[in-house]
Amino acid sequence: MAETKPVEHLSIEEATEELAQLAGRLAAANTAYHRDDSPLMSDAEYDALRTRNAAIEARFPELIRADSPSDQVGAAPAEGFSKITHRLRMLSLANAFDADDIREFDRAIRSFLGLAEADPLAYTAEPKIDGLSLSLRYEAGRLVQAATRGDGTTGENVTANARTIDDIPQRIDDAPEILEVRGEVYMRHAEFEALNERLRDEAVRADRPARSFANPRNAAAGSLRQLDPEITRARPLHFFAYAWGETSEPLAATQMAAIEQLALLGFKTNPLTRLCDSAEALLEHYRTIEAQRATLGYDIDGVVYKVNDLALQARLGFRSTTPRWAIAHKFPAELAWTRLEGIDIQVGRTGALSPVARLAPVTVGGVVVSNATLHNEDYIAGRDNAGAEIRGGRDIRVGDWVQVYRAGDVIPKIADVDLSKRPVEAEPYAFPHLCPVCGSQAIREEGDSVRRCSGGMICAAQAVEKLKHFVSRAAFDIEGLGAKQVEQFYADGWINTPADIFDLKEKYGSGLQQLQNREGWGEKSANNLFRAIDERRRIPLNRFLFALGIRHLGEVAAATLARHFGSWERLRAAVDSAAEEPAAKANDAKARKAALAESPNWEELVSVDGIGDTLVQSLVAAMHQPAEREVIDALAERLEIEDVAAPDSSGSPVAGKTVVFTGTLEKMTRAEAKARAEALGAKVSGSVSAKTDLVVAGPGAGSKAKKAAELGIETLDEDGWLSLIGSA
Ligand code: IVH
Repeated sequence: MAETKPVEHLSIEEATEELAQLAGRLAAANTAYHRDDSPLMSDAEYDALRTRNAAIEARFPELIRADSPSDQVGAAPAEGFSKITHRLRMLSLANAFDADDIREFDRAIRSFLGLAEADPLAYTAEPKIDGLSLSLRYEAGRLVQAATRGDGTTGENVTANARTIDDIPQRIDDAPEILEVRGEVYMRHAEFEALNERLRDEAVRADRPARSFANPRNAAAGSLRQLDPEITRARPLHFFAYAWGETSEPLAATQMAAIEQLALLGFKTNPLTRLCDSAEALLEHYRTIEAQRATLGYDIDGVVYKVNDLALQARLGFRSTTPRWAIAHKFPAELAWTRLEGIDIQVGRTGALSPVARLAPVTVGGVVVSNATLHNEDYIAGRDNAGAEIRGGRDIRVGDWVQVYRAGDVIPKIADVDLSKRPVEAEPYAFPHLCPVCGSQAIREEGDSVRRCSGGMICAAQAVEKLKHFVSRAAFDIEGLGAKQVEQFYADGWINTPADIFDLKEKYGSGLQQLQNREGWGEKSANNLFRAIDERRRIPLNRFLFALGIRHLGEVAAATLARHFGSWERLRAAVDSAAEEPAAKANDAKARKAALAESPNWEELVSVDGIGDTLVQSLVAAMHQPAEREVIDALAERLEIEDVAAPDSSGSPVAGKTVVFTGTLEKMTRAEAKARAEALGAKVSGSVSAKTDLVVAGPGAGSKAKKAAELGIETLDEDGWLSLIGSA
């Protein structure tokens, strides 16, 4: 095996890649051993792979895969399941961590709905079960399909396994014709312990190394995702119903009544579910549940709050992956003290120097942690971005005892430092002013909390990170060209910029000789790589934009720009014109604002909803920095960049139109108006220009309505708008 780099030295990309490989190898080994009865490797080798996998997962808990081999005990894992596309997506929940987050959740909902503080608004509160979610489909009262959440859009077909779980009814009387019930599969503590004991016994008897599950959640996931349903049957799984997907008729008018209805239909629902009439009542029920946590007999990791009225839920709708009407209030992160052994500096794609704490390994909430983020130099020095003290102004030094925590699923963080244990020789940490990779000046701009390497493409770290970003999942996603291969190709000078990827075959592929001569490449893998690269010569505009790795241009912003401009040519023209305008030449945000009136193209960019001034500035800067522009143009020349169509809103009278809301709206809040217009395929803009199609003006509308009149743009009042979209 080539990858014997110490786990401490792996970058995030390498770790991701190696976890994927290990998942594949261990899955194949499992199938060979358990199903086909013909082992691929020795037990010692198998155990070494599992240990390596566990060590990487411990260091990068945020990278643990849904199909983690740590979850697989017994028989072959999920490779063989067919896929099911959920008719309604399975969403996740936004997280909250303290009382203020919950008060803010309530405030934001009231504001969205236009409710005053004194108006009644009820929520349900129920435990957040720490298991895995499952969607059950009933047709005419018979269970026809069970699917895991998967990526939210597509899950695995585990119908045969779900049928073995006692809590899941196979038939229900008086059910709607179509009913999808969603909930959590989990394992109780006592049963989890007994299962692990049984697995250990079986291993001893069969003279195999003992394999057990790390926690009940892994055990539930590993048990449900067995190819042989008889194995699932022998595992003690339970199910709580808490939500639903497609239904041929509404279950009820409120969340609480719907849950009660599910209970009547024969599902287990959580007995700690309560109706609460305020944020304070939610917090009180949170404390009640927290007090019972240790004696429930199963793992929960927080409390979920949902708006009770289903009509209000429908009005509130969804953000990209989470509902606006629900939130998960997580229990506090677990804490642990350990020694800070060193501080490493990693250089990212945009040149940011990120300090990483190297820690003496310590268990935090069941996971061994040996690194944590230190954010930036101010954080180490005991200051926040505005220069105010944090941690009582205590700085962090190598050799210190530090308190580590994990909040949600994110990278571990450092909460505090114990000055009483500080070694006398510990020195304040001197944050480097030179890039540790290329030696260029690392500059911190006014108002920026981050110091950045100024080396641009000459900095190997930036160049490689940009390339890794380019080939990553959400960007070009080229099979066979992962972080590791990119590093190798870069080190050998074969790929310096993204465009080089598309010249690989031409330059080095002749007879495949050169590529095949490389370690790890044969004829088949080389051909596969060239094919995978060819497949990406056509790429949708949004992926192309995201792949460029421009600062502030994330996946969501890339999709927004792609939808707004439709084609690369149009976007490039808009950016090019904007770059010529006074706003582009202003050197700070204030000056830019002042120059906006004479910068119609800049204004068009910033008025795209969801695209801010900072992003536009970064986009214009990147596309007009000569070296970067050359890289982008060279890449674009080699590709066919596909236009992105406006969202499918067939039948919508406002699809593709640019709408501006101004003045006071009386029947809905601005946020709701915007969300509904967007759902109908309209673009909502903050300012009126020649490109505006429609202005909706409420009482008190001022300059925008005036401008619309001057430009001869159609203007409606709120009722006119509602009747246009068919919901007056
Ligand atoms: S409601 C649209 N309720 O938590 C909202 N989820 O972090 C659907 N979960 O994917 C989810 N207990 O697997 C809901 N009482 C509960 C839950 C719960 C556990 C899980 C669920 C979801 C995840 C989100």
